[in-house]
Amino acid sequence: MSEKNTILKGGAMPRHIGIIMDGNGRWAKKRGLPRVAGHKEGAENFKRIAEHLVDLNIEVSTFYAFSTENWKRPAAEVNNIMSLLVDYLVEWQGMRKDKNMRFRFIGDRSAFSDRIQKLMADVEEKSSVYSNQLNLALNYGARDELARAFNLLYEEHKSPITPDDISRALYTKDQPDVDLIIRTGGEKRLSNFLLFQSAYAELFFTDKYWPDIKNEDIDEAILFFQNKDRRFGGLTQGR
Ligand code: IPE
Ligand code: IPE
Ligand code: MG
Repeated sequence: MSEKNTILKGGAMPRHIGIIMDGNGRWAKKRGLPRVAGHKEGAENFKRIAEHLVDLNIEVSTFYAFSTENWKRPAAEVNNIMSLLVDYLVEWQGMRKDKNMRFRFIGDRSAFSDRIQKLMADVEEKSSVYSNQLNLALNYGARDELARAFNLLYEEHKSPITPDDISRALYTKDQPDVDLIIRTGGEKRLSNFLLFQSAYAELFFTDKYWPDIKNEDIDEAILFFQNKDRRFGGLTQGR
């Protein structure tokens, strides 16, 4: 066993990992393929990496698949992503038990077709007996999520509002804050992803495009996490 594996298994695991799956378009362009080919390969890779995270027994994994800003793209690209989404939702309806994946779709669903909304509800319902939580962020934007949370608290006549109140009004309610965010594709920004939940997240960036990401890259990010001194504003123990 390599030293790498030893550290990974022995160290503290992040409870919640967020992944910004960026670089599908550039992956395709590099191969002379249309952008949609990158999205297809990216979706296949999502399935592989999601299985790896379940194998590692990560409690919650959040994958950023489509942002509130991604509607700005050409209609043909958006339509293609939507049709890929339908295919995968249909596949997940028949998800095998041994995968142990519990789905939650986070984001504003009202923008999706009735068919997609029904599929999302069905996949969530059918997978609710499993334990490893997979959040798929679709039409998700952290600013949108926060505005929605404040509106919910306002309707509850909640006053004063505490950070814990906000936390339980987010799509990620009942889930731990994100410990580690991985962004692929070379950019070092959050692009409206989990802004509230990431207050003390460790940030791991890689230049690799999402479809090229392998299990070992995820392990490398977890090792990076395990070597961090997480102080949360306090001091390292013993100093
Ligand atoms: C991420 O890949 C997937 C989505 C945002 C839907 P991109 O499509 O952003 O790929 P690049 O960044 O253009 O290469
Ligand atoms: C972030 O990627 C959103 C997803 C991965 C779904 P983008 O490609 O949309 O982000 P920007 O435009 O580079 O910030
Ligand atoms: Mg991008």
